[in-house]
Amino acid sequence: MERLDKVLASTGRWSRREVKGLVRQGRVTADGRIAGSPEEKIDPAQTQLRVDGELLAYEEHLYVMLHKPAGVLSATEDRDQPTVLDLLPAAWRRRELFPVGRLDKDTEGLLLLTDDGDLAHRLLSPRRHVDKLYYARVAEDLEPSDEETFAAGMTLADGLVCRPAKLEILSPQECLVTLQEGKFHQVKRMLAHCGRPVIYLKRLAMGPLQLDESLAPGTYRKLTEMELALLKE
Ligand code: URA
Repeated sequence: MERLDKVLASTGRWSRREVKGLVRQGRVTADGRIAGSPEEKIDPAQTQLRVDGELLAYEEHLYVMLHKPAGVLSATEDRDQPTVLDLLPAAWRRRELFPVGRLDKDTEGLLLLTDDGDLAHRLLSPRRHVDKLYYARVAEDLEPSDEETFAAGMTLADGLVCRPAKLEILSPQECLVTLQEGKFHQVKRMLAHCGRPVIYLKRLAMGPLQLDESLAPGTYRKLTEMELALLKE
């Protein structure tokens, strides 16, 4: 059971305050009965809620695929700099979305945002070994020995131990990297360790979820039912 005001606000169409006003004005019905109070508890999966007669579709959680552009932070708020949430419509921002894992400010590509803490936790858990796939351009030519260095796992000069990962050379200065970890600046640090500083980095996939290439940087869409089902598997 959930509070009526919370359920109505979760549609993203009204703030909690606006919702209270709607209820007080008698504009909200629950299974045909005029709702008496914003605090009343209902079962959102079972109850037909209407506002001014319009039936509301209830979604417990929101799952958004964003093509993160360079120049914005993967954070929910920052005093000075734009964050990925600033790219989303106000109605969605009201849902307390957060990014699942981080990309550096200058990294582009796939970022999942959700208000489903359980799913986020599962995707980020080191025990689950979820693959993250990146495309990188580097400033020095890659060598086949770099693929071996990645496959063997490496210990960086600062002591960070990186588990075995996959490097696939696409051209002398382009590669794909697959990691199951997500340590700070990890792709950049691993490539730098091989003497190949990264000049461009883009995440292409996370587990079964692939960046929709029809999304231009800075744009987003909800996950499809199929994508969500695959992620939850
Ligand atoms: N590795 C990095 O170095 N940066 C990212 O943004 C993601 C992975």
